[in-house]
Amino acid sequence: MSFHILGTGSYVPPTVLTNDDLAQIVDTNDEWISARTGIRRRHVAADETTSEMAAKAAAAALENSGVEPEELDLILCATVSGDYICPNMACLVQRAIGASCPAFDLNGACSAFLLLLETAAAYLSTGRYRKILCVGAEQMSRILDWTDRSTCILFGDGAAGVVLEPGDNYLGSELIFRGSQELLNLPTAVGTFPGSRLEPQHPYVYMNGSEIYKFATRIVPQVIQQLLDKTGTAQTDVKWVICHQANRRIIEAAARRLKDIPAEKFLMNIEDYGNTSAASIPLLLDECNRAGKFQKGDLIVFAAFGGGLSCVASLVRW
Ligand code: COA
Repeated sequence: MSFHILGTGSYVPPTVLTNDDLAQIVDTNDEWISARTGIRRRHVAADETTSEMAAKAAAAALENSGVEPEELDLILCATVSGDYICPNMACLVQRAIGASCPAFDLNGACSAFLLLLETAAAYLSTGRYRKILCVGAEQMSRILDWTDRSTCILFGDGAAGVVLEPGDNYLGSELIFRGSQELLNLPTAVGTFPGSRLEPQHPYVYMNGSEIYKFATRIVPQVIQQLLDKTGTAQTDVKWVICHQANRRIIEAAARRLKDIPAEKFLMNIEDYGNTSAASIPLLLDECNRAGKFQKGDLIVFAAFGGGLSCVASLVRW
């Protein structure tokens, strides 16, 4: 036994930053950003925090699921841009929605939402918990260097999540990890200890874009194929693919490699949100769910990659 998705929810802040708006901040233009990434606009949180967005997404997911906060047995959250390192975001969400269950975070950068599903599936299959809320939320605008045009154009803010109960619809997962900080990192503070020999680092997202691009275009189709092989699923059985929304060209490259999954099965909303890291997959899931895109029994592949480095795929039956 694993899980069944009871409902989904999301929240994005109202302020929208278009590519033209960005061109007022750094030396860039709409044509470059659209052609290289597929992104046209992103939402940014000007006056609310990550946990506030997470709590709104959580409330929407609970409402969509018909579950009351006090029925939750566990809250799992993921973020790299939380209000604090301590307390974790899950505890802030717990208080904001009026729940009283255990609550903790996982750190998995852009793959984190799929790690929440993996963790929730393990708990639900033991019978230890019966209702789990999983939320990914990010305020990437707060951890970007807005003078670095190669990173600040890629990301956006938002939050989204799901409520899970025991069921048979988590059909498998594949996890590839390659420990490395060189290509993608987000340093922490080094403190003021006078004897410290640690160098203070630039406290913003650092990324080697072209190397991450090469990593992602190779690893995403690989992890999906490994997942399909492991679960005995043919490419032709896959109804939808929800990839981490980092770059349209990465998703299109994956679609070209997975020849028997038609390109239109690879769902996208990157145009409107950019890369929202841990919120990216549940944001697209919620959008499609509310649009009535999924039919009962549809096989959905999720695939994410990110800092770690990591690449995770999972197979869910709707
Ligand atoms: N606007 C205009 N020009 C820009 C620019 C911007 N915002 N950012 C970079 N450029 C310039 C570069 O300076 C470079 O100029 P040069 O050739 O004169 O040196 C040129 O565009 C090409 O840069 P390059 O980095 O090779 O572009 P690219 O085609 O690799 O696209 C990314 C850059 C970042 C869009 C792409 O590498 C990417 O998406 N990588 C993956 C990032 C990712 O997914 N991160 C999330 C991980 S979870």
